[in-house]
Amino acid sequence: MAAARRDKPSLLTGLACGAAVVAAVTLLVYPLQDLDPGVSSGVLYVAGVLIVAIYWGLLPGIITSIASAVALDYFHTEPTGDLFRGKDGGDLFAISVMFFTAVLAAVIAARARLRARDAAERARLEGVQASRARVLAAADDERRRVVRDLHDGAQQRLVHTIITLKLAKRALARGEDAGRFVAEALQHAETTNTELRELAHGILPAVLTHHGLRAGIESLAARSPVPVAIDVVAGRMPPAIEATAYFFVAEALTNVAKHAHATRAHVSAEIRDGALRVSVRDNGAGGARRDGPGLLGLEDRLSALDGKLELTSPPGGGTRVTAVLPLLQ
Ligand SMILES: Nc1ncnc2c1ncn2[C@@H]1O[C@H](COP(=O)(O)OP(=O)(O)OP(=O)(O)O)[C@@H](O)[C@H]1O
Ligand SMILES: [Mg+2]
Repeated sequence: MAAARRDKPSLLTGLACGAAVVAAVTLLVYPLQDLDPGVSSGVLYVAGVLIVAIYWGLLPGIITSIASAVALDYFHTEPTGDLFRGKDGGDLFAISVMFFTAVLAAVIAARARLRARDAAERARLEGVQASRARVLAAADDERRRVVRDLHDGAQQRLVHTIITLKLAKRALARGEDAGRFVAEALQHAETTNTELRELAHGILPAVLTHHGLRAGIESLAARSPVPVAIDVVAGRMPPAIEATAYFFVAEALTNVAKHAHATRAHVSAEIRDGALRVSVRDNGAGGARRDGPGLLGLEDRLSALDGKLELTSPPGGGTRVTAVLPLLQ
């Protein structure tokens, strides 16, 4: 609804538009008053009052209705050179109609604005709830993956280590050589250690937690099959911001390698207007869709920190994807 577009109409603009509407209607009806000196000019003023009341609210509508009544009174019959002198009492009726119309229109417009605001707020809350549900589902998936990895990897190797050590103990108790079992147990323990380190790396890489975003991005660029130029102008930030920015770059660079057919990529990070802006761009095929599982997941990650994702990816024109993350004080 048109009225709903202006959530907070400015009073000054409303008054200026009211004055413009009254002047325009007066200019329009004055030369035509010979055709119909009464009703049609009144209706045009009422239409003007309606427009002002709907678009700019009650007060400008009322003031416009009074101004319209004065203009109508002054111009719709032969000018007398003075207001309300030598005119018939029917103008009082015109004033009342316009006043009533203004109030009615303003009330309807206010209700419409309220309903539109409610609908927008409901839509926003539904979006936040859907996003939260996806973040929770992703966290559950991640937990399940960690449990599975622990169960299939480190836990199995530890079981082998324990069994082998028990064999070694039994051999020693019998006075036999336990060296073979001890060597095997050691190998299992070392492999377990490596697997646990890799698992932890998958959750949050040590280079990011120890050295910050720039180092994290450098490690991602080093693994990328497409050459990546880096331009990071940002020091240490809160861990949640660094981790989110890191996973954003990881997914964006994976997308470049998987989909873009690009010959080079560029990652930049800077702090501007109180927010970290991280961009990944490539010179590839373009045509990226923000409703894909990866980019949608990134959007959820970002919105959990009040951030947002921007995507420009015209077909054939390369892709630029940007994460904007407000830095909390
Ligand atoms: N840099 C890019 N260049 C060209 N196309 C891209 C680029 N990034 C994404 N796309 C396109 O947008 C789609 C959505 O990307 P998204 O990352 O959401 O999903 P995905 O990479 O296919 O799946 P996942 O991330 O789960 O592996 C991709 O399928 C791909 O077609
Ligand atoms: Mg992807």
